[in-house]
Amino acid sequence: VANGIGLTPQMGWNSWNHFQCNINEQMIRETADAMVSTGLAAAGYKYVNLDDCWAELNRDSQGNMVPKRSTFPSGIKALADYVHSKGLKLGIYSDAGVRTCSNLMPGSLGHEEQDAKTFASWGIDYLKYDNCFNNNVTARQRYPIMSKALQNCGRPIFFSLCEWGQEDVATWAPGIANSWRTTGDIVDNWNSMSSLADQNNQWASYAGPGGWNDPDMLEVGNGGMSVEEYRSHFSIWAIAKAPLLIGCDIRAMNNATHAILSNKEVIAVNQDKLGIQGKKIKSNANLEIWAGKLSKNRIAVVLWNRGASTAWITAYWPELGLAPYTEVNARDLWRHQTYKVKGKIYRKVKPHDCKMYVLSPV
Ligand code: DGJ
Repeated sequence: VANGIGLTPQMGWNSWNHFQCNINEQMIRETADAMVSTGLAAAGYKYVNLDDCWAELNRDSQGNMVPKRSTFPSGIKALADYVHSKGLKLGIYSDAGVRTCSNLMPGSLGHEEQDAKTFASWGIDYLKYDNCFNNNVTARQRYPIMSKALQNCGRPIFFSLCEWGQEDVATWAPGIANSWRTTGDIVDNWNSMSSLADQNNQWASYAGPGGWNDPDMLEVGNGGMSVEEYRSHFSIWAIAKAPLLIGCDIRAMNNATHAILSNKEVIAVNQDKLGIQGKKIKSNANLEIWAGKLSKNRIAVVLWNRGASTAWITAYWPELGLAPYTEVNARDLWRHQTYKVKGKIYRKVKPHDCKMYVLSPV
């Protein structure tokens, strides 16, 4: 949407995948601290996003949402001030229905303008807008109301739709939102992650600067997948220009998790200014090639082994849109090495692992 934000996919953290409703102001502050101290902020992660369960059960007598007194006693404005003092941005969550999915707080349906103004007055920078208790009104009717309210609230607020891919959302959301979910919820396992990658892939042509397809937040670091699987998860999300929203407890990451999430070369593919969503361009049994154009005539490539045994994967230049004899520098974004190659790139890939390259014609 033309609100001047989201020109590259959003990067940040969200509370849901790891904490669900167990959130409070202390741990959000500690997360903001960790964003900076771990180097994730310097790597590009900006948003610290609250998900469900931050508000009191019901609105007050003026119809305002109220931060939950037991868990956010200082209020959201104070939290935003703190997060801003660290050079980061604060996101909040509501629902295009009468209650949120937890049913532990109100949704914004019928209160869009009031809530947008409240969020702006608190210094909120991002709204994730869920889809529960929607009174069976179509998404296409409900979501534009909040979009307009945000555009009139006096503050640029990133608008993230969470309508789970309903009503072919990618075909109409680019005019009203900065990102939209193309899938149901991710689960921290291989099958869920890889199936979301496929579902999201079919909407590639609708993504671009200002509006992105969202196959849901990252599970890297939550323990349900192997390091190889998390590397694939992060590589595919990056090349597909998906939002990079960390979903683990960054206060307690291990080295492997940190190395994946802070790989600046992979992040640079995601944040490339052309904003072209890389796609699956070939699949042969469980061996896949994903690729997409980058600025400066470069091409990002992921060789992804979705099978159960180690295998060679080859990408030939014409499949990638390169003339057959072009010489390129192939930068391996996980090994951080550059090779000169011509005609094709072929590598041995471990099961559930991937290789990721940026090809620069010499
Ligand atoms: C459903 C969404 O898809 C999730 O990402 C999360 O926001 C939960 N609702 C919260 O209840």
